[in-house]
Amino acid sequence: MAIVPNPYKTTGFLGWIDDRFPLTKLWRDHLTEYYAPKNFNFWYYFGSLALLVLVNQLLSGIILAMHYKPSAAEAFGSVEYIMRDVPWGNVIRYMHSTGASAFFIVVYMHMYRGLIYGSFKKPRELIWLFGCLIFLVLMAEAFAGYVLPWGQMSYWGAQVIISLFGTIPFIGPDIVVWVQGDYIPSDATLNRLFSLHVVALPFVLVGLVVAHLIALHEVGSNNPDGVEIKKHKDPETKIPLDGIGFHPYYTVKDLVGVAMFLIIFVAVICFAPDGGGYLLEKPNFQEANPLVTPEHITPAWYFGAFYAMLRATPSMFSSALPGVIVMFGAVLILFLLPWLDRNPIKSIRYKGNLTKLLTLIFAIDFVMLNYLGMQPTSVLYTMLSRIGTVYYFAFFFSLLFIHNFEKSKPVPERVTG
Ligand code: HEM
Repeated sequence: MAIVPNPYKTTGFLGWIDDRFPLTKLWRDHLTEYYAPKNFNFWYYFGSLALLVLVNQLLSGIILAMHYKPSAAEAFGSVEYIMRDVPWGNVIRYMHSTGASAFFIVVYMHMYRGLIYGSFKKPRELIWLFGCLIFLVLMAEAFAGYVLPWGQMSYWGAQVIISLFGTIPFIGPDIVVWVQGDYIPSDATLNRLFSLHVVALPFVLVGLVVAHLIALHEVGSNNPDGVEIKKHKDPETKIPLDGIGFHPYYTVKDLVGVAMFLIIFVAVICFAPDGGGYLLEKPNFQEANPLVTPEHITPAWYFGAFYAMLRATPSMFSSALPGVIVMFGAVLILFLLPWLDRNPIKSIRYKGNLTKLLTLIFAIDFVMLNYLGMQPTSVLYTMLSRIGTVYYFAFFFSLLFIHNFEKSKPVPERVTG
């Protein structure tokens, strides 16, 4: 079979590879000749940080799985064994448990960046949709992982979340038994969550991240000004005038973000690995006991907002179904964002003051809901959760028309900074 000569004129060993595999082509297309807008700011660190945390989770997870025992009888003890007897086991476990929280902080910042700069708008809808799928799978992955240590919160958290399937009319109770593999969370439940957590979901997650980046590189990155750099290219080279090669410019810039992130991440692992009960909850240091319910069953902080919405929604005919619909709706509405936001302007920089204010309140609202979801219920907190839930949905619907009531600023032709 004839070998097609490579178009990049590489020689020697690299030339030999390039004749058989597009190594230099991939390197150029996705790094040195992937032209990104020159005005990326702080908010643009979080994509590469999400990749870093993903790698951290995969590597620390592989080592944990070498010592962990996925059975109801042994799981809790095997985690204790990792913490006390496996060399560096405690550090590896904290890298993974703190990494889970870091993942959500980074991804929430990454999503908020998308929201404020309109990165979900045409032609980047698919990047956003892949992102939403990533977020869904990430939530499932975190939930499954949380059950594995088989502590009190693992057990009762699993019980609460799986029982939500029971609210589905007619078939709900059967689905709960089918999902659990038993009438209560048990060894069978732990086994299937283990298999999802270490095999199925990571595969899906990595696949979706690859799709996310392929879609990104197809259309090119947005930027804080929300203007398309491809509109103004050098007539000869066809390189966007406001673009710079991703490598070395952004690989170096992203290293600054990585360094800042690692300083905080390592400090937490070394000095506050349980985050005062927010990164590793106190009841989870006790082994699962189906006969003793913890005083307050709270989800991990990153599910707080969705849990608060679940609790805030009044039940109907003694069924929590409305709450379940609201909770899932809060995630599903993210998928609709590219079609809900009718503002022709992408970046918040040039939108009117009303949109700016509502977008800021949205962030505060989300943080508040996360906090409320972790607290025991009270009349005041239920009221606040209800207001927060209504605002969450109202914000998305306001994007349909709010720009008609405000004065926006002129959008520049080319990037500004
Ligand atoms: C494992 C999780 C994720 C990883 C590893 C990841 C990775 C990345 C990377 C490396 C970029 C390019 C750099 C940047 O623009 O910051 C990017 C861009 C983007 N991501 Fe993600 N992402 C993840 C989750 C998400 C989620 C959950 C969403 C939204 C629901 C999302 C939406 C976007 C959008 C809209 C862009 C384009 C941004 C722009 O061009 O302004 N991503 N992502």
